[in-house]
Amino acid sequence: MAVTLLGLAGSPRRQGNTETLLDWCLAAAREAGADVVKFRLRELDINGCIACDGCIDDGACIVDDGMDALYPHLRNADSIVLAAPIFSMGMSAQAKAMVDRCQPFWAIKYILRQALREPGRPERRGAFLCCAGTEFRTVFDGARQVANYFWHVLDVQPVGDLLCPGVDAKGEIADFPSAKQLAEEIGRRLAEPR
Ligand SMILES: Cc1cc2nc3c(=O)[nH]c(=O)nc-3n(C[C@H](O)[C@H](O)[C@H](O)COP(=O)(O)O)c2cc1C
Repeated sequence: MAVTLLGLAGSPRRQGNTETLLDWCLAAAREAGADVVKFRLRELDINGCIACDGCIDDGACIVDDGMDALYPHLRNADSIVLAAPIFSMGMSAQAKAMVDRCQPFWAIKYILRQALREPGRPERRGAFLCCAGTEFRTVFDGARQVANYFWHVLDVQPVGDLLCPGVDAKGEIADFPSAKQLAEEIGRRLAEPR
């Protein structure tokens, strides 16, 4: 059976630098046989977590918004790739809101003590693709921590980040050395049958 790959575009800028990385990655995965589904988080209209603790009772979120479409994919996809830019030294608000709304998965694991996926399902894989306008030494640190938390809470094994500093204006990613090739390599890795 084909590997299912969930692609998440976390920038509010349509066809910006991180979405371009994502599309290179997804195209290579599709070519390698993966069954790909892509969402633009901005278009899903995802609200922030309201800390109501509702998910602690049954592992379900009571907020009725764009996350409803995403939850089954986040839970069941064999691979997940999150693409998001650096905004104010962290992940864009659209991406961070989505990660915060993964609190039901945290509740399922750590409060309800249930498995997120049926036993025997193969390892899940993930990758984080990111661009920053500057080349500050620590510019990716905050976003990487959030991405690593995201993988942890979803029981996903990260297979490599692609972090591109000094990429600012729309389209500049095309000039970043080897970006396309590296994104495609990640796509193929995420598409590998397990
Ligand atoms: C609101 C906002 C905040 C930003 N903050 C930072 C920042 O703190 N550090 C940085 O290096 N770049 C920052 N940038 C630049 C973006 O990371 C950069 O333009 C990136 O290529 C955008 O990717 P995208 O085209 O996928 O949206 C910021 C851009 C915006 C719009």
